[in-house]
Amino acid sequence: MKDAHIPAPTELLVCITCRGQRELPGDDRRPGRLLHDLLAARALPEGVTLRAVECLQNCEAGCTVALRGGNRWTYVFGKIDEASQADMLLDGAALYHATEDGLIPWRQRPEHFKRNCVARVPPQNFNDALERADDD
Ligand code: FES
Repeated sequence: MKDAHIPAPTELLVCITCRGQRELPGDDRRPGRLLHDLLAARALPEGVTLRAVECLQNCEAGCTVALRGGNRWTYVFGKIDEASQADMLLDGAALYHATEDGLIPWRQRPEHFKRNCVARVPPQNFNDALERADDD
């Protein structure tokens, strides 16, 4: 009998020092911290862990988050609206977690992910692009 696929854990990294796109009247928290706290108050998708990080080097387009885990590509997303996009992030994290390689099918990908991916980084044991070309 074949084992059911159990996805490797996923981490949702949230920069808590991001200043975001606007001031938050009456709230001393930085927008990144607010985004983190809003996420922490929600039920996370199964297999997804929330982690706070200081600066993902995308400060001009904060708030910024990253998704990583297992043998998946790591994705960094910017311009997250701290006040309105926590649920979108969790939906995206669940879709990411369901993949083996981190590549959410384009049609399923949240629109914000399509337009605001800052970088993607391959997993450690990826196939070198030139080595693959040599095999052809
Ligand atoms: S402070 Fe958030 S990316 Fe630099």
